[in-house]
Amino acid sequence: MKKLGLYIHIPFCLSKCYYCDFYSVPVSTGVPDEYLAAVSRQIDEYGLQNSEYVVDTIFLGGGTPSLMNEKQISSLLKHIYRRFNVSKQAEITMEANPGTVDKSKLKVARKAGVNRLSLGAQSFCSKDLSACGRVHSVNDNLRAVSDARAQGYKNINLDIMYGLPGQTMAEVIQSLGTAFKLGVEHISFYGLKIEEGTPFYNMRDTLDLPNEDSESEMYFVSRELMLQNGYYQYEISNFAKKDMFCRHNIKYWNGDEYLGIGPAAHSYFAGKRFSFKKDIKLYIDSFSDSPCQESIIDEMIDIPQSARVAEYVMLRMRLSDGIDCAKFFKLFGRDFDNIYYEKLKPYINSGHVLRTSKGYAFSPQGMYVSNYILSRVIDFDMNIPGI
Ligand SMILES: C[S@@+](CC[C@H](N)C(=O)[O-])C[C@H]1O[C@@H](n2cnc3c(N)ncnc32)[C@H](O)[C@@H]1O
Ligand code: SF4
Repeated sequence: MKKLGLYIHIPFCLSKCYYCDFYSVPVSTGVPDEYLAAVSRQIDEYGLQNSEYVVDTIFLGGGTPSLMNEKQISSLLKHIYRRFNVSKQAEITMEANPGTVDKSKLKVARKAGVNRLSLGAQSFCSKDLSACGRVHSVNDNLRAVSDARAQGYKNINLDIMYGLPGQTMAEVIQSLGTAFKLGVEHISFYGLKIEEGTPFYNMRDTLDLPNEDSESEMYFVSRELMLQNGYYQYEISNFAKKDMFCRHNIKYWNGDEYLGIGPAAHSYFAGKRFSFKKDIKLYIDSFSDSPCQESIIDEMIDIPQSARVAEYVMLRMRLSDGIDCAKFFKLFGRDFDNIYYEKLKPYINSGHVLRTSKGYAFSPQGMYVSNYILSRVIDFDMNIPGI
């Protein structure tokens, strides 16, 4: 059986955080039933229950999936189980804003099969939360973790952000210290990116952002603290206790297949990459009784083999394990060194890229500037003889 990841996008939030450019719209009345009806119909269209695919990861992401009410969460998951072959050992993640979960919702979600909770805690410092326009408090963060534990969640992630306006090194350390004390299994540690179209972008000249040196200090000191506290860095921004890596997200970096459902969702399936338009109304209309004619497809790319090589290297290098040259040869029938050694050489010499027992990986310093290095090394239009 082939393995498949399933991503369901819930593009609704209580309000928009000042830094966020994920596709979601603010709602005060919860997730509309008509949206979830459209999601169910798209699930029906895929109908892979009798196929060669077994779904081994499900990710309810957003937006804010925890805005769904109890009934919506269990109906959605039941529908997925009916229409897909879902493995008994599947990792089923739900993203949750700590201000939108309570004991009852967590209990229902757990009963419906959610076994990994990803909480957007962001910080354990009140000042940071209000600086970002978050709708929850530090107490909500603490309560959400303890409620989740009480309901039997054994795999909890906290999203923690650094480089926030006015944030100090001591505050980052305090937030991480609280995460360690709570004993969560996984920490996604994101450096603030100022994205175009967000309130922070409009305020960018007046925001009190840490300078480059302070930001890199935050990253390296935090990385060290996480290692000391038993969190292994398996990807640029992701740290986990032993065997608690996010199996769903690893699929993205491994070049494995996944199907995305909902507006703005991306898929990589049967050799094609595609995404759906960021338009909730169009999405709902397309899956109504009298569907509109406009396509929901935003982009559909049949990736040529040479670009697939470039893409594989770009995604795999995000992982601490980096590139396994033997595996690369098995996948593409080409010698990795022949294609990439000369390009990597300056970064090997500078210590940003390391030779591992199996191939190549970024050093901690390399990881921090990986986007820059990869933009120099990888050429999607490169002509690779024989490919
Ligand atoms: C889809 S959201 C997580 C779930 C939920 N919506 C929430 O915020 O509580 C994914 C995570 O990406 C991170 N993120 C979003 N925009 C970011 C930005 N501009 N820079 C850095 N991290 C960002 C935040 O940590 C956020 O929790
Ligand atoms: S960070 Fe999460 S809660 Fe905030 S706007 Fe983005 S998706 Fe919504």
